[in-house]
Amino acid sequence: MTLLTVWPDSDPGTVLTRTDVPSEIAVELKRLGVRYENWPVVEGLSATPTSEEVLAAYRAQVDRVVETEGYILVDAMHMTPSDDPEWVEGAAAARKKFLAEHTHDDDEDRFFARGAGVFYLHVEGKVFGILCEAGDLLSVPANTTHWFDMGTTPDYVSIRFFHDDDGWVGNFTGSAIALSFPTFDTLMAGRHS
Ligand SMILES: [Fe+2]
Repeated sequence: MTLLTVWPDSDPGTVLTRTDVPSEIAVELKRLGVRYENWPVVEGLSATPTSEEVLAAYRAQVDRVVETEGYILVDAMHMTPSDDPEWVEGAAAARKKFLAEHTHDDDEDRFFARGAGVFYLHVEGKVFGILCEAGDLLSVPANTTHWFDMGTTPDYVSIRFFHDDDGWVGNFTGSAIALSFPTFDTLMAGRHS
């Protein structure tokens, strides 16, 4: 289930809003121009599914989004924990890649088929932390300042939608704001408190 936490951008110690009610989250995100949907989770995917398997499982919804939003590329990827030192190193590098505040020229449109990740949107003088879990589709509009935390042990399957080949290259703002806010690990640990 999704969890939305809102803080003033200058005060990570003050929580303005914290809700896991999907209808409340939808209202708040719609106001920001963020598309947010909950899809029924398809059971039975393997732990390390191919892109084709994931896309086939969500074919109807994927086709609808592609058609409605004009995407030309869609794929799926997974981060599946392993003790292999190479995986651990790769996971740390993957996490670090978009952990600092940035924008993209394209929308960042993601569906979580498994696991979780947190998008932090920095808009209107606030930070909106959206902890997405299986069944959540979230689209960060192009040019929105944001960062993403997949946690220190990334574990998720996500479908990615693209309008072109290089639209999701990160344009980094140079701000260190991301370092001040609760991480994926912290938000997950407090998930049910
Ligand atoms: Fe991003």
